Amino acid sequence: MVDQAERLRQLFKNQNQTQAQTQTQIRSARVVVITSGKGGVGKTNLSVNLSIALLKLGSRVVLVDADLGMANVDMMMGIVPRYHLGQVLTGEKRIDDVITQGPLGLKIIAGGSGDYQMANLNAQSLEYCLEQLNDLEKNSDIMLIDTGAGISQNVLKFVLAAGEVIVVTTPEPTALTDAYGIIKVVASTKPSLPIWVVVNMTRDHHEGKQVMDRLSTVSKRFLGIDLLNIGSIPWDPDVPKAVREQQPFVISHPRSAAAQNVFQIARNLMDRTTSRETSGGFFERLLRGKFR
Ligand SMILES: Nc1ncnc2c1ncn2[C@@H]1O[C@H](COP(=O)(O)OP(=O)(O)OP(=O)(O)O)[C@@H](O)[C@H]1O
Ligand SMILES: [Mg+2]
Repeated sequence: MVDQAERLRQLFKNQNQTQAQTQTQIRSARVVVITSGKGGVGKTNLSVNLSIALLKLGSRVVLVDADLGMANVDMMMGIVPRYHLGQVLTGEKRIDDVITQGPLGLKIIAGGSGDYQMANLNAQSLEYCLEQLNDLEKNSDIMLIDTGAGISQNVLKFVLAAGEVIVVTTPEPTALTDAYGIIKVVASTKPSLPIWVVVNMTRDHHEGKQVMDRLSTVSKRFLGIDLLNIGSIPWDPDVPKAVREQQPFVISHPRSAAAQNVFQIARNLMDRTTSRETSGGFFERLLRGKFR
C-alpha cells in the first residue's frame, strides 16, 4: 500500500531531481552525525577534535552541538556562546548570531539548554530558519553533529536526516552491546545510511581492530549491513588532561597518540568519496522529516 507519506516523499524526490538538473552544482555539506549507544564513550571528544583535525586538513567545518542541555562542546573548547540553535529554530535569532568562533576559526553552533520542539514550529519561522541553515550548509564542506547517547527521538531525527553516521564505542561489552543496538535501529530505519565505527579507549591498535571485526561480523550476519571502519583511538592520559584544560587535544597535545589517531580518522573520512546531498539539505530533511 502506498501511504500518504510515501507519495509525499515521491513528490519531493521528483521535485528535487528537477531542481538538481536545473540548478547545477548547488551542493550541501557532508553531514556526519556522531552518536553512541552507551554514554561517556568519547563522542564529544571525537566531535571537537575531529572538527579541528578536518579544519587543519583544509575543510570548511561547522560543528553542531545537538546534545541539548549538556553544552559539553562549549566546555571542551573553553568557550561561552551567547546564543544557540534552539533560538534559530524558534525565530528569536538569526543563524549568524548563534555561530560562535572556536579555535582556529572553527564555526560552532551551540546546543543550548532550552527544551524546544522542532515539530511545533510555525510555518513562517520554519521557512526563515531553513533559508539560513541551508545557506550555512552550502558554504561548508562538512558538518559534524554531536549528539547525546542512546536513541531518543531527537537523536534519531538527527541520525536519520544525516548523510553519514559515526557510532562511537569502547571495547567494553556493555558499550558494544549498546553500539550494536543503535546500529540495528539505524540499519532497519534507513538501510542506505553509511555507518562508520570508531572504537575509542582501546589498549592498542590490535584491540581496536579485534572489536571492529567482531561488530562487523554480527552486523553483517544479523542485519546484512557492512560497517565502515574509520579507525580507533587508544586510551590516552592526554585526553582527560586536555578536557580539564578546556582545550582540544589535537591543539594542546598534537603529538599524543589520541591526536595522531584522530588525524588518521579525519583523513579516512576525507578519502571516502561520498555523493553529497543534492536533494535539499540536512536541516531541511531534519525539520520537514524527509528522511529517506
Ligand atoms: N581516548 C581517550 N582516552 C582517555 N580518556 C578518554 C578518551 N576519550 C574520552 N575520554 C574520557 O572519557 C570521558 C567521556 O568523554 P566524552 O564526554 O567525550 O564522552 P561522550 O560520549 O560525549 O559522553 P556523553 O554520552 O555524556 O555525551 C571524558 O572524561 C574524557 O576525558
Ligand atoms: Mg557528549
